[in-house]
Amino acid sequence: MTYVLEARDLTKVYRTTREHEVRALSGLSLTLAPGETVGVVGESGSGKTTLSRLLLGLERPTNGTVLFRGEDRQQLGRAGRREYVNAVSAVFQNPYSSLNPRRRLWDIVTERQAIEGGAGRRARRARAADLLGLVGLPTELTASFPHQLSGGQRQRVAIARALAQEPAVIILDEPMSALDVSVSGQISNLLLELQQRLGVSYLFIGHDMNQVRHLSHRVLVLLKGECVEQGDAQSVMTQPQHPYTRGLIAASELQTLGPDISVEGTG
Ligand SMILES: Nc1ncnc2c1ncn2[C@@H]1O[C@H](COP(=O)(O)OP(=O)(O)OP(=O)(O)O)[C@@H](O)[C@H]1O
Ligand SMILES: [Mg+2]
Repeated sequence: MTYVLEARDLTKVYRTTREHEVRALSGLSLTLAPGETVGVVGESGSGKTTLSRLLLGLERPTNGTVLFRGEDRQQLGRAGRREYVNAVSAVFQNPYSSLNPRRRLWDIVTERQAIEGGAGRRARRARAADLLGLVGLPTELTASFPHQLSGGQRQRVAIARALAQEPAVIILDEPMSALDVSVSGQISNLLLELQQRLGVSYLFIGHDMNQVRHLSHRVLVLLKGECVEQGDAQSVMTQPQHPYTRGLIAASELQTLGPDISVEGTG
């Protein structure tokens, strides 16, 4: 089988000062099959965003390769790179900063179409209405601005924009962390529904194990830039091998129980 995306032995070292460097990612490998979701979990600073930036080609790895449908990303020619940009899209953490406040929704969600050229204003508006419908937003919102929307609605717009170029993969870097629990549940369900309809693959980055399990077929656990455990989501959740994974699971269970409970021995 050809994977749609594959990382082989990815390492990223940031040099911060003349003497200091940060090993943000260390020898990480993963595969992503068509229609599959791989969840990536790890605490703050474990290298999750670094991984997403390397996969998106926003940064170059210090070592290792990213393969797109079996081809080395670095070796792609002009046409291949353009294909890559359209095939691998992204949704970021904060829908309050990721949408340009001065642009209307139709303009935001069809931004790639504008870059590619050829589509007039009317065609882009029609396309935007379809995309907003696809993510469950009323199509009357096409002429609205981001500030007129709730956080959940904005994140739906970000998803519509990521879908516009009919990607094979969407990289979702903690897309629900700025949303409250019920809204993030709705976004989770939307992502599942879209995957079923469109067959798109997701790389879903999160820190809440429960949320990641809900969406992912396989899970990969990052600790200080290294993968300490990976496997199918069910077994990682029910039979975690690494103490760090057990800690992440315990933390997400506490979160699910809510802030009202008192933990034995501390309350
Ligand atoms: N541009 C950079 N220059 C220097 N160090 C960086 C840079 N980007 C990230 N780092 C460092 O690399 C490590 C991994 O950061 P990264 O943002 O990938 O973590 P993360 O898992 O996404 O964390 P969070 O959950 O807080 O988003 C951290 O120690 C961070 O300080
Ligand atoms: Mg991050």
